Amino acid sequence: MSKEGKARAVTKMTILDKKKHGEKITMLTAYDYSTAAMMDEVGVDMILVGDSLGNVVLGYDNTIPVTMEDMIHHTSAVTRGAKRLMVIADMPFMSYQASVESALENAGRLMKEAGAHGVKVEGGREIVEAVQRMTASGIPVVGHLGLTPQSIHQMGGFRMQGKTEEAALRIKEDAFLLQEAGAFAIVLEAVPAALAGEITESLAIPTIGIGAGPQCDGQVLVVNDLLGMYEKFTPKFVKKYADLAGTMKKAFREYCDEVKDGTFPGPEHYS
Ligand code: KIV
Repeated sequence: MSKEGKARAVTKMTILDKKKHGEKITMLTAYDYSTAAMMDEVGVDMILVGDSLGNVVLGYDNTIPVTMEDMIHHTSAVTRGAKRLMVIADMPFMSYQASVESALENAGRLMKEAGAHGVKVEGGREIVEAVQRMTASGIPVVGHLGLTPQSIHQMGGFRMQGKTEEAALRIKEDAFLLQEAGAFAIVLEAVPAALAGEITESLAIPTIGIGAGPQCDGQVLVVNDLLGMYEKFTPKFVKKYADLAGTMKKAFREYCDEVKDGTFPGPEHYS
């Protein structure tokens, strides 16, 4: 039930059903109340409160410095705006890797303190025990394979994964292990489209692609990329649906000009 007592329209079960019926799943990142409310209204299926928060909102170079407190703060804002859709909170770096107990405790905090409906974790075989325990405890879990930004220093940069036969096999095996452990969906980031297609076909749970081609069961994008409001770096796989950076800068300039020349506030703005 949502806070108003009505059943939530999008749940883990509806997401699994979409795969069964061949319906595409839409997921976007969001980090604040207003954006979440708009996504809720227009019919997005799932919001990911991604730790990309670190890059696009907090201004870090990568996701590693993002804390549990950052994630709880922003996930709480998103869940206040999301009445219909499902909110998945990213578990930040080192909130689940050190031990199964820390994974359970931190996932529990995202659900209890921030109102998340599920969590996302990066990695494969090395975290299956944590995934198993979280799902057994009633926490819906989304996996994340391919380019996993929390391992950026291990991977040596933001680059396509799964290009060799051996690397592709490892990702396929990890996807299966995550499914076995109880994950209800898997994000596939920056892997060849053919590999993503093969994984999608072989799994009963949906794949959500980002830079993984059209055969995934759903797609996810970082909202600041989609809106054209993060100018530092745009991955090749992003489609910009708007130029909000341009629109915002124009509005900021006009405001400054009007304050300086006395046009704002006009008579209609005061009594
Ligand atoms: O943090 C994030 O936004 C993500 C998506 C890129 C999938 O993990």
